Amino acid sequence: MKKSLLITALILLGLLSGCEKEDGNEKVISRNNTDESHKLGQNCMNCHVQGGDGEGWFTLAGSLYDQTKVNGYPNGNVKLFAEFNNSGTIIKDIEIDSKGNYFTTENIDFGNGLYVGVYGTNGEEKIMLSKITNGACNSCHGISADLISIY
Ligand code: HEC
Ligand code: HEC
Repeated sequence: MKKSLLITALILLGLLSGCEKEDGNEKVISRNNTDESHKLGQNCMNCHVQGGDGEGWFTLAGSLYDQTKVNGYPNGNVKLFAEFNNSGTIIKDIEIDSKGNYFTTENIDFGNGLYVGVYGTNGEEKIMLSKITNGACNSCHGISADLISIY
């Protein structure tokens, strides 16, 4: 009896303290003007998934390039919308970091698909016409589709 109470207490403590490493995941979200990311253009979800060695399991991640298509485009935003032509409810608004990478471990319900666009710091907008059902942008862009760029 006492033992099981102790175990319950320990589990609760673990849950309350976040216990980041417990299941290998942790909360990681990109912000403008931060630079902790790496591997511009690579498919982040090759590593940042359950069982992978990347820190944090990303639900959405990728890279935005500037017009050179060599350098990252810093500090814009990526937005997910419920409806075609990037209208309706904004489901998610993710800040792009200073390297041009964006990533989040937050839960995203893609349902039957969401619409996505990238937004530059001077009001530029580039939208993807078809909807996406997963957030691994660089699993297509740079492979079966063009790099994502602002120009
Ligand atoms: C080949 C595997 C691999 C790929 C691909 C990869 N990562 Fe990582 N990532 C790691 C590993 C391993 C770490 C932890 C150690 C380190 O920092 O190198 C990490 C760490 C990070 C961190 C720091 C997390 C923290 O809590 O400090 C960020 C942010 C990150 N990666 C973002 C990205 C983004 C964005 C992409 C895609 C553009 C990406 N990674 C692609 C393996 C990878
Ligand atoms: C399943 C493959 C796939 C995934 C995943 C994907 N894309 Fe796309 N994307 C495409 C294709 C193909 C096009 C061109 C046709 C279109 O717009 O639908 C495109 C077009 C775009 C465009 C318009 C490019 C231009 O020059 O006008 C943007 C911006 C874009 N995608 C951003 C993203 C972002 C951000 C993500 C991740 C959240 C993402 N895409 C995930 C395949 C993909």
